[in-house]
Amino acid sequence: MGFKGAFLSWIALYGWIFVFLHVCHGDLSYSVPEETKKGFVVGNVAKDLALDVKGLSYRESRLDTEDNDKRFCDINLQTGELFVVDRIDREELCGSKISCNLRYELVLENPLELHQVSLHIEDINDNSPVFPKNEIKLEIAESADKGARFPLDEAHDADVGRNGIQSYTLEKNNHFTLAVHSNSDGGKYSELILDKELDREQQQEMVLTLTATDGGTPQRSSTVTIHVTVLDANDNLPVFTQQTYEVRLFENSPLGTAVVTVSASDADEGANGEVTYDFNRISDKAAKLFSIDSASGEITVIGPVDFEDKREHEIRVQAKDGAGLASTAKVLVNIVDVNDNAPVIFLKSFKNHVLEHALPGTEVGMINVQDKDSEGNRQVRCSIQQNVPFKLNPSIKNYYSLVTAAELDRELVSEYNITIVATDEGNPPLSSSKTIHLSVSDINDNPPVFEEQSYSAYVSENNKPGSSVCSVTARDPDWRQNGTVFYSLLPSEVNGVPLSSYLSINGDTGVIHAVRAFDYEQFRSFKVQVVARDNGSPPLSSNVTVSVFITDENDNSPQILYPTPEGNSFMTEMVPKAALSGSLLSKVIAVDADSGQNAWLSYQIVKSTDPGLFTIGVHSGEIRAQRDISESDSMKQNLVISVKDNGQPSLSTTCAVYLLISDNLAEVPELKDMSYEENNSKLTSYLIIALVSVSTFFLTFIILIIAVRLCHRRKPRLLFDGAVAIPSAYLPPNYADVDRTGTLRSTYNYDAYMTTGSRTSDFKFVTSYNDNTLAAGSTLKKSPNDNSNCLDFFEDASKCSTLVNN
Ligand SMILES: *[C@@H]1O[C@H](CO)[C@@H](O)[C@H](O)[C@H]1NC(C)=O
Ligand SMILES: *[C@@H]1O[C@H](CO)[C@@H](O)[C@H](O)[C@H]1NC(C)=O
Ligand SMILES: *[C@@H]1O[C@H](CO)[C@@H](O)[C@H](O)[C@H]1NC(C)=O
Repeated sequence: MGFKGAFLSWIALYGWIFVFLHVCHGDLSYSVPEETKKGFVVGNVAKDLALDVKGLSYRESRLDTEDNDKRFCDINLQTGELFVVDRIDREELCGSKISCNLRYELVLENPLELHQVSLHIEDINDNSPVFPKNEIKLEIAESADKGARFPLDEAHDADVGRNGIQSYTLEKNNHFTLAVHSNSDGGKYSELILDKELDREQQQEMVLTLTATDGGTPQRSSTVTIHVTVLDANDNLPVFTQQTYEVRLFENSPLGTAVVTVSASDADEGANGEVTYDFNRISDKAAKLFSIDSASGEITVIGPVDFEDKREHEIRVQAKDGAGLASTAKVLVNIVDVNDNAPVIFLKSFKNHVLEHALPGTEVGMINVQDKDSEGNRQVRCSIQQNVPFKLNPSIKNYYSLVTAAELDRELVSEYNITIVATDEGNPPLSSSKTIHLSVSDINDNPPVFEEQSYSAYVSENNKPGSSVCSVTARDPDWRQNGTVFYSLLPSEVNGVPLSSYLSINGDTGVIHAVRAFDYEQFRSFKVQVVARDNGSPPLSSNVTVSVFITDENDNSPQILYPTPEGNSFMTEMVPKAALSGSLLSKVIAVDADSGQNAWLSYQIVKSTDPGLFTIGVHSGEIRAQRDISESDSMKQNLVISVKDNGQPSLSTTCAVYLLISDNLAEVPELKDMSYEENNSKLTSYLIIALVSVSTFFLTFIILIIAVRLCHRRKPRLLFDGAVAIPSAYLPPNYADVDRTGTLRSTYNYDAYMTTGSRTSDFKFVTSYNDNTLAAGSTLKKSPNDNSNCLDFFEDASKCSTLVNN
């Protein structure tokens, strides 16, 4: 290349230096890049000043700084070159000043010559941008709007000009973009611009890298970490874990039982995320039952939970954060039934009475059972546990009809206490019971029953009329009038006479009375049917036979049949003279109408002409010779014989027996005459008696006619007809009206039958009937006349009977 080549390369190396070379007033100006190595020749001063190199050293050329500061350059006195002696750092010397010049004075002596040398330090890109801190911390509220700007720390580059910071770049991210601005001093700074809203709950922190780049060659850059903390805003509602909490809770749960714990979370933080719970909407009822722990959200029981009161509680719970944002959830508390209610039995309809003999299945009442519990706990079974003839028939739903299971008999059981037990199917089961009282009402299903199969009555004859003969009793277990017994006699005849003239019966008491005196000799017994009838409708009756036996009384004296007392009373027995001792001579024959002892006769010789000649058989009445008849014995022998019965007291009759000891009747003429005389006198006396009788009869007849006329109405007729006790219920209406009392009380029965014969029959038994009857005898016509008449009659009657006795 030679010189030309070397020259060109010199130009290339240093040519640009001369661009800045100023030759002003002989002053020198050079440029040198900073940080050149020591010895680097900046320029040739000698040449540029056109000085002789040789003169440099003898003229004591030197380079002075203006203020004796550090010198970075020096001059080579041999060559006149200006070279670098120390490291030149533009940034140290001039900082951020764009132009950086070092000023020197070149001093030459002999002659003193002063030249200004200016050394321009050129910048090289030897500094990277520097951020003030190696981390930028930003706190941005999540609520920041899009477009919000956040200035970032400016990076600094010690270099100037192009070597200074030219741009910033931001790491790619979702939220921010970068805007770069220039300062008034030419620096550049950047701002973060929010491009998309932040969500703390999504991303709480962000780390971005910001790069600052200068414009040097080669380019230098540096980065800084932007640490973005997203600040919370109360932008989140508390959120329940469930929209609806559905829980089951047993009724009667003890206080304090936990029902459910609701939980809500709030994505916010701090107070914004602190959740408290409360009831939002709650019924008054539920408010008394549940409470919620505001901190934990636990719902507990504070009152008596009753399924029967309410089966489901719906509660709205609210969760609220510290800043007042709230959300709600629903809590459904389903109360689970517990068997805590016993069934209740209601009597829907009930008859207090059921008719006996009602057909089985007759409905007595209707019951209804209710249980407030649910499902199995309200399934109720109803039963009757006693042994009673009733059963329950299930009807619709919880209705049961109480019906009879068998025929009832009031006479056996007249009332029932029916206990109905209702049991539910809970576990354990609960039960309750109800007792209902039922009475069986009567129907007339029992006839009166006599206490005995038959009755016998013994009455001694000549009884007092009105005396009681016997008493019958019949029982009827029915109720009240259905069991009230009336007695009556069944009409019949005894020996052709109506029974009523012999007996009457007290319809109430069943006492049978004799109406008249009986005569054993007339009849000894008879039967009578007594009917007992109750007062039911229709009435029931039964009958019994009463046998009346009349007992004998010694009311008949012995009657001599032979020898006949009248007519041939003087009839004589012939006794043969040769009759031997013990031979049967005659016989007294006597009878007694009575019977038994009363008719047991004994014979006795009371008086005899020759005592010791004859004997009589005490029982046979045979008269026998006690010894042989002798000639000396009187021919006529009279015996008086007494015949005596064995009654108490005994009655006796006497008769005379004439015995003639003779073999020939002709031997006794006196006797014949005597008998004729007797006959004649008898005839005349008969005639006299007849005459007297006829006239007496006539007279009596006339007197009677007059008497009858006079006291026709006063004299009673003796009537015993209609002497039947007729129960008042069966009297025809006109009978009932007899006394105009409307109803005929049984005490009037006797009255009634006493007056049935005719209106004129006023005869009353004053003494014969029981005092009750008579005491009530308001209708008896008790005139003294009548009474005396009656008594007269009885007196007469007794006279008659005494006559008979005699
Ligand atoms: C029924 O109960 C009543 C009262 O409790 C009692 O007086 C009566 O004797 C009872 N009857 C029966 C038949 O048990
Ligand atoms: C008597 O029985 C009849 C039915 O035979 C009945 O109608 C009546 O009520 C009963 N009387 C009484 C008092 O029970
Ligand atoms: C008396 O009772 C019997 C059976 O007890 C009956 O056959 C008869 O008819 C009854 N007589 C009267 C008159 O009631």
